Amino acid sequence: MKITSPNQSILPLTAKRNAQDCLEIGGCDVTELVRRFGSPLYILDEFTLRTACRQYRQAFENYYPGESQVIYASKAWSCLAVCAVVASEGLGFDVVSGGEIYTTISALDRAGMTGATLDKIYFHGNNKSREELEYAIGVDCIIVVDNWLELETLVKLGGQLNRQKISIMLRLTPGIECHTHEYIRTGHLDSKFGFDPHQIEAVFTYIEANSVLHCIGLHAHIGSQIFERQPHEDLGGVLVQWYKQGLERGLPLSQLNIGGGLGIRYIEEHDPPTIEEWVKTVSRSVAAACEAQGAPLPKLISEPGRSLIATACVTAYTVGSRKEIPDLRTYIAVDGGMSDNPRPITYQSPYRALVANRMNALNQETVTIAGKHCESGDILIKDIQLPKTEPGDILVVPGTGAYNYSMASNYNRLSRPAAVIVCEGEANLILSRETYADLIRQDRLPQRLSPA
Ligand code: LLP
Repeated sequence: MKITSPNQSILPLTAKRNAQDCLEIGGCDVTELVRRFGSPLYILDEFTLRTACRQYRQAFENYYPGESQVIYASKAWSCLAVCAVVASEGLGFDVVSGGEIYTTISALDRAGMTGATLDKIYFHGNNKSREELEYAIGVDCIIVVDNWLELETLVKLGGQLNRQKISIMLRLTPGIECHTHEYIRTGHLDSKFGFDPHQIEAVFTYIEANSVLHCIGLHAHIGSQIFERQPHEDLGGVLVQWYKQGLERGLPLSQLNIGGGLGIRYIEEHDPPTIEEWVKTVSRSVAAACEAQGAPLPKLISEPGRSLIATACVTAYTVGSRKEIPDLRTYIAVDGGMSDNPRPITYQSPYRALVANRMNALNQETVTIAGKHCESGDILIKDIQLPKTEPGDILVVPGTGAYNYSMASNYNRLSRPAAVIVCEGEANLILSRETYADLIRQDRLPQRLSPA
């Protein structure tokens, strides 16, 4: 079978219709999974995730003439099993909070991969706390410094912790525009992330004056769910120019991180480049800029999130109530919504859906898929063509591996769903469903309110 680039597929690569006319993923019948693990359910296909990791790594080997390292932007989905799979494929990690550091190193520890991965964890964030920085230094993360306060805090911490050297990279705002939702654009000058380019000389001077700051590279990330190749091509040239500037100042730079951002196909109309095409673009752009500017080839770091994991996961829901408004709209409600997938209400993100227990049924009506939250905006998909559904049918929404579980909430005190990983007919729980007891676990009732 010809394996496509996962980010161009709407369904996981192992998805097929089985003899019972049901959707099968990773050799597991989705309707059986829902019977066994409950609904809603995140179903993660290990093969698709591993394929995306391998395609990234292979493409850098093919197209980048220097050393490279792919790191997983774990904000897309941070949990023990995902981190363990990704680490086993040789990827490092982009982490953005003490919680993501903790999750990642716990996964590495339990999966016996600490030795192989610990020097590949990069700590990002525009407002890292002193505690987080101390934690990151303690576990030897490379710190991607975002602002002046952070530089100053690191210098102080270096003294207090008696550290000779803290490895850092600098995040810069490259001033590159791209076409994506404004909430997920980061490379334009008016962004809360990174140093403004006009400060770069002053930052270099500060680093030179503080020997504890061991600056090994530069970083930029321009945004997410990007389909164009031009912004990333431009980014290579801009970063290499700053890289050369730093080298000429005598900084020990050896790495450039070009961020993530490659989009995926949520709906047929989306047309992202393949993983290979994206890697080829960034590799050639950095290599060509180095050649043109006479700079040595840096180790090239990339940090995809969405394009590694979004397509690998689907969410299975159970169909419930129906509301028909004559000549206006038909709503079909499912047993989840904005708490397990906040992307439609936050970014107006479009999704597809299919009826997993009647794969061959023909589309018969246009419906709007509503969630069950007390909020009119809790609509997962507006006006989609579907077969006629009945309560109890299993509705599957693909493309939910990135920024779904990681942005899930307990709005209306809904329990967060369970997640399973499927592979060659086996399904294993990776996140258990929250119980009602979990929902009040952190609640405290002051004594004066509980007379008994
Ligand atoms: N590197 C940095 C510094 C980032 O800020 C991000 C994403 C990535 C890498 C990974 O980007 P990706 O390859 O996934 O596009 N919650 C939003 C997405 C926010 C992206 C935040 N940063 C959504 O659901 O679309």
